[in-house]
Amino acid sequence: MAQITPSPVETQRAQWNTRWGFLAAAIGSAIGLGSIWRFAYVVYENGGGAFLIPYVVALATAGVPLMILEYGIGQRTRGSAPLCFAKTSPYWEWLGWWMVMFVMFGINAYYTVVIAWCVSYLVFSFTLAWGSDPNAFFFQQFLGSTPDPRTIGAIQSPILLALIVVWALNWFITFFGVEKGIERANKVFMPLLFILILILLGWTLTLPGATEEGIFRYLTPDFSRLSEPKVWIDAYSQIFFTLSLGFGIMITYASYLPPDADINFDACVTNIVDTLISLVAGLAIFGTLGYMSVQTGKPFEQIVTHGIGLAFVAYPQAISLLPNFPTLFGAVFFLALTVAGIASSVSILEAFNAAIIDKFGCPRKFTVSVLSILGFLGGIVFTTRGGLAWLDIVDHFLSHYGLFLACILQCVVLGWIYRISDLREHVNRVSTLKVGRLFEISIKYLIPIILAVLLWNDLVADVQRPYGGYPWVMLLLVGVGWLIATLIAALVVASRPWRKPLG
Ligand code: PHE
Repeated sequence: MAQITPSPVETQRAQWNTRWGFLAAAIGSAIGLGSIWRFAYVVYENGGGAFLIPYVVALATAGVPLMILEYGIGQRTRGSAPLCFAKTSPYWEWLGWWMVMFVMFGINAYYTVVIAWCVSYLVFSFTLAWGSDPNAFFFQQFLGSTPDPRTIGAIQSPILLALIVVWALNWFITFFGVEKGIERANKVFMPLLFILILILLGWTLTLPGATEEGIFRYLTPDFSRLSEPKVWIDAYSQIFFTLSLGFGIMITYASYLPPDADINFDACVTNIVDTLISLVAGLAIFGTLGYMSVQTGKPFEQIVTHGIGLAFVAYPQAISLLPNFPTLFGAVFFLALTVAGIASSVSILEAFNAAIIDKFGCPRKFTVSVLSILGFLGGIVFTTRGGLAWLDIVDHFLSHYGLFLACILQCVVLGWIYRISDLREHVNRVSTLKVGRLFEISIKYLIPIILAVLLWNDLVADVQRPYGGYPWVMLLLVGVGWLIATLIAALVVASRPWRKPLG
């Protein structure tokens, strides 16, 4: 049972300037591409408005407790994920490294490439460059996509160029530190993002068919669906990724909080704001799709989609059909995606950066610069012709197996090895809202069991049929290989000594 005492290393630890600054950064991490282009579709597919019931249950039993856990442990140990786990038990330091390692060199590597696509489309929207066939434009011309991941093919230079811009932005924001860089940027980004989404929504509501054909279909509740396990599974699996939990990010951001920060309240605010923004973004997106359905005469079910297909095919198509200022509408949409993406990507970079600084004591400006270059280099493979297939495989393995496993282990270590009742006492001491026994039950039993079910579901599906129809060899080499490579790297780094005793 490790006792947590502050070590000398942390006396000059950076701190957020204001509480709002911290919240803006945490919300910035949570609201990302996933919240904007996935949430609405998951709602639509799982009973519309009725889905909000399992979603709120999942928030209350998994989202909020896990966030309180991550905020609480980060604030209490005042350390990045590896430092926090090392202080809990020296045997578990690797887990902290694994989290920040696979998110930085896995998820962020392709996530930044998708942001690079958004940046490119931001530019394209001024001329509606996707023309009359956005599908062919995106897959053939822009990505030059080859369906077989074994053929990597040439780098698509416009994407590479945009990727440089994305990493330059990431570098610039984190270079100036927690308060002067990350906090300042998010204090601009978050209000900007809300305004952009509200503009999109206001505009969408003026379009014929948006409400009846789009928004009603999005939200009309079908309560009969609530008896299906899949609906509940989808609610829980949306929560972890969208709230950036299990990646060591929220631990790191909370480590810059003052000792008396109101953890429980802030965790609730982060959960609620992420949900509200996702819901509102969904209104705007589904409204636009509804309009498109009316204009083209195509049934809504054939138009509605999510992820890449939504942002880069369906949406551009809808933009081209708009009666007034389509270019501006497109620019607002892609700017919103870019801003949301950058705020998330910065949080990943900082989680790894903080870990390196904690462990080896290197100066921030140096680590940020090296990591930005490495992150950029790691993303290059996703800018090739085979990049889309690689992205799909790496995303599937890391954001399912990596994330679920890391989250389960985090609950086991912090729930069972670390004295969770101590942590509950701690968060209740500093918070206005108090958490009861349900918090402990969630961390110790409920969340690991739910995650194990999600993991099992994926495993059964993947063993029965190769994911995405890709060749097995690629799934093993790229998907499983990426997980194992980051795990080995984590074990190696964890075996190195700390620059100062942990205390
Ligand atoms: N929460 C972000 C989203 O919804 C994704 C993300 C994942 C951000 C991992 C940071 C780390 O898109």
